[in-house]
Amino acid sequence: MKILLTGGTGFIGSHTAIELIKLGYEVEIMDNLFNSKITVLDKIEKISGVKPKFYKVDLLDKEGMDDVFSEGQYDLVIHFAGLKAVGESVEKPLKYYENNVCGTINLLECMKKHGVKKIIFSSSATVYGDQGVAELTEDMQTGVGITNPYGETKHIIEEILKDVAEAEPEFEVTILRYFNPVGSHPSGLIGEDPNDIPNNLMPIIMKVSTGEIEKLRIFGDDYDTVDGTGVRDYIHVVDLAKGHVAAVNKMKPGVSIYNLGTGKGTSVLEMVTAFEKASGKKLPYEIVGRRAGDLAEVYANPDKAKKDLGWTAELTIEDAMNDTINYLNCLEEK
Ligand code: WQD
Repeated sequence: MKILLTGGTGFIGSHTAIELIKLGYEVEIMDNLFNSKITVLDKIEKISGVKPKFYKVDLLDKEGMDDVFSEGQYDLVIHFAGLKAVGESVEKPLKYYENNVCGTINLLECMKKHGVKKIIFSSSATVYGDQGVAELTEDMQTGVGITNPYGETKHIIEEILKDVAEAEPEFEVTILRYFNPVGSHPSGLIGEDPNDIPNNLMPIIMKVSTGEIEKLRIFGDDYDTVDGTGVRDYIHVVDLAKGHVAAVNKMKPGVSIYNLGTGKGTSVLEMVTAFEKASGKKLPYEIVGRRAGDLAEVYANPDKAKKDLGWTAELTIEDAMNDTINYLNCLEEK
């Protein structure tokens, strides 16, 4: 099976490429390199032995994308490409709607033209908005109480995919709702290495540990949680990548939706403690006010993915911290 990964040089995409190649899938990557580096291709080769064919093409470049599909003759697309900075999306909503939504429409039109009928979409737990409960299941209503344009684009794309599947009976759609991806590849060669200023907890912890950022600002310790700080479902990126492989093997007509999470919640302070334990050094932090839009506690119910895909997260927070520190050490050695 030949698979195109849009956004495949990114954090999740690169780890997924490696897992697919390990199982013998033919993988090609299309990315505009806005938030990733072309050197990732060499690292994928070092780890997997295969350097995926690469196209530097943007989702808004219809002609360029048409050329990729004319050449590629793909069986399936895994669609990772998209802008994902929550804070930036509030400041620049049109940039996010154009890139993420219009870009996906371009992709779907190109797939239709070239007879590609299978897509796995990189969605996010953000589409759940505020359900009033911590544990989230796929049957919950989505799109209500989403607090940022980034999350809205993920929700809108899910709705577009549902409508296209309704109109095209042979179309096979799997929507994967990620919780909080963390960690790095155990080889230490690839990990979360954003070009932009990070919003998420782990890349900020990484930059605090290297001294690029002075201290971690913890957004509130007055939530109704185990220690007052926010609780999330942090899933190791390798487990997340394996979830995509499981989805590839179980594609079927219609729309299938799965939470990809561990089913466990971890607080910000627990993440800090875990990082300090793995790194052997204190992590400077300061408790500040709550961040607008944050929920107190969110984690996945991952039972459906286990039942339908035979997939379950296996790696721990400790594994994620150890792999992240290994990755940082490898970066420093360069
Ligand atoms: C996690 C926890 C913060 C930074 C977002 C997106 C979601 C997905 C994952 C892409 C919260 C706290 C964070 C900091 C902090 N992205 N925190 N200080 O908000 O759960 O989800 O990223 O798909 O779509 O919405 O992740 O990492 O930003 O925050 O205290 O400097 O860490 O308050 O409790 P979040 P996050």
